[in-house]
Amino acid sequence: MLRGQALARGDTCAHIGRMERAALLHDCTVVKRTDFGHGYFELFLDAPALAANFKAGQFVNVRVRDELYPLLRRPFSSFDILKDVRGKATGISLLGHVVGQGTRMLSRMEAGSKLHINGPLGHGFELPENADTRVIMVGGGIGLAPFLHLTRQWHGQRELVLLAGGRAQKDLAFMKRFTGTGANVLLATEDGSAGVKGRVTVLLEAELKALRGKPAVVLTCGPWAMMKAVAEICMAAGVPSYASLESVMACGYGVCNGCVARVKADNEHGFRYAKTCVEGTVMDCEALVW
Ligand SMILES: Cc1cc2nc3c(=O)[nH]c(=O)nc-3n(C[C@H](O)[C@H](O)[C@H](O)COP(=O)(O)OP(=O)(O)OC[C@H]3O[C@@H](n4cnc5c(N)ncnc54)[C@H](O)[C@@H]3O)c2cc1C
Ligand code: FES
Repeated sequence: MLRGQALARGDTCAHIGRMERAALLHDCTVVKRTDFGHGYFELFLDAPALAANFKAGQFVNVRVRDELYPLLRRPFSSFDILKDVRGKATGISLLGHVVGQGTRMLSRMEAGSKLHINGPLGHGFELPENADTRVIMVGGGIGLAPFLHLTRQWHGQRELVLLAGGRAQKDLAFMKRFTGTGANVLLATEDGSAGVKGRVTVLLEAELKALRGKPAVVLTCGPWAMMKAVAEICMAAGVPSYASLESVMACGYGVCNGCVARVKADNEHGFRYAKTCVEGTVMDCEALVW
């Protein structure tokens, strides 16, 4: 039974769906950091046991340093799965954006720094059964993070389209990491400094129109308002859509109730609260109360 933060290194957890019997706590070493400017950075971590079992859309909860502050772990998606020359997973990378103290500390970590990581946590994206299904990923800003890993995971199995939105080109400098991944990448920026001028939903509407009956699924991650717009467009078009929710989290494994989202329910309120860290983070857009 899980209790608070009382997991010990090497413990396993049978309560977290797909992670059954996988080790959850990992001591990882930073091997490299890349800066993309404007507070965006990528941390490359040596963590073979963590990487071996990681599905895109799952997340890790990171203890930023081994001191009292910051007290709570900080959740992050896996940005990339790192492999050696023989294709064996050696670690993961995290794409970060500085918004507060925890991300600032991570953005300054040098090679050799140690991080204590809990994961992989939550449920990732599910590969659509029908091989003809076009997978349309819609990400906004730092919400693009899970889609590099997803592209690597599904490349060659499904047709992949990535629609990337940001305020300006400077918020999308990390998109160069998607070069050569096999996904068809289209950009939209609000100021027109990269790609189409406007919101990423403009690209989505055009993609859905171009489907002409071809099966598709839309996967989205980013700011709530963007995902809500994506969900509404997809529901109107009759295309299934799934959102990876980046709720504010604490424990990351279902004990604190810090991460709830409202999902439709057949009760007097018409909804119930779902813990996104264990029921998600990937959730069916039709099931959510937007
Ligand atoms: C499942 C999941 C995956 C995530 N993946 C990434 C990722 O790949 N890269 C990345 O940079 N960030 C990601 N985030 C968001 C990241 O966890 C927060 O930005 C981080 O915890 C903030 O920590 P801090 O100490 O820097 O800021 P704090 O001082 O804790 O907070 C600073 C500001 O950020 C806001 N904030 C805190 N947590 C979140 C959150 N979860 N979502 C949105 N705003 C938040 C606070 O409300 C506050 O306004 C993810 C969050 C979740 C839940
Ligand atoms: S983060 Fe604690 S229950 Fe989800």
